[in-house]
Amino acid sequence: MKLFFASGNPHKAAELQSLADAGAVPVQIVSARVVGGMPAVEEDTGTFVGNARKKVLALRSRLPADAWILADDSGVCVDALGGEPGVESAYYAGPDGDPVANLAKLVAVMREVPETEREAQFRCVLLVGGPDGAEEIFEGQCGGRLLLEPRGGAGFGYDPLFVPHGYTETYAELGDAVKNRISHRAQAWGRLAEWIRARGR
Ligand code: IMP
Repeated sequence: MKLFFASGNPHKAAELQSLADAGAVPVQIVSARVVGGMPAVEEDTGTFVGNARKKVLALRSRLPADAWILADDSGVCVDALGGEPGVESAYYAGPDGDPVANLAKLVAVMREVPETEREAQFRCVLLVGGPDGAEEIFEGQCGGRLLLEPRGGAGFGYDPLFVPHGYTETYAELGDAVKNRISHRAQAWGRLAEWIRARGR
């Protein structure tokens, strides 16, 4: 099965491709670059599902009607912040979506929050849109806690601040091999992979 990936984020594309390769899932993930890149999308629906649906619709305008399109909308939801930054994770520090500034803002906002109240969940929605409005939604999440200071050089975004439950290292210290086994995206991907296999093509 061919899935056009409605994203301009190279980190997400790389993670999804290695998840597909590792599980020998019969899928080819095709970058939006082959059709001129991902159109700009205002992520203003307030939900992961709604934003993912907007991304699929935006790329649909550049593809034939029978194309299958995949979008990822994801973020980190912090209990002490009432679930923020959540769907706003990409734009937490401002509209230009600077990941370094986003991470620095979360570190600053969480500075006074004690060790026992630093619980957070990474959440991921993978939404697949097909011909005639067909739609499938797969969700994944990974719970953990936030450190006071970032640690580690792998991954992207908020990875250096997040220690998943059951581990002592951050996503950014654990690296791709471990992250791709346990992450929110890996959980959602596992459900999508089951669906692809069940379709049989
Ligand atoms: P969006 O799904 O394009 O709206 O953006 C998701 C944002 O959430 C990213 O820009 C990151 O800031 C954050 N995010 C999502 N998944 C991850 C992850 O696996 N690691 C670190 N940050 C992530």
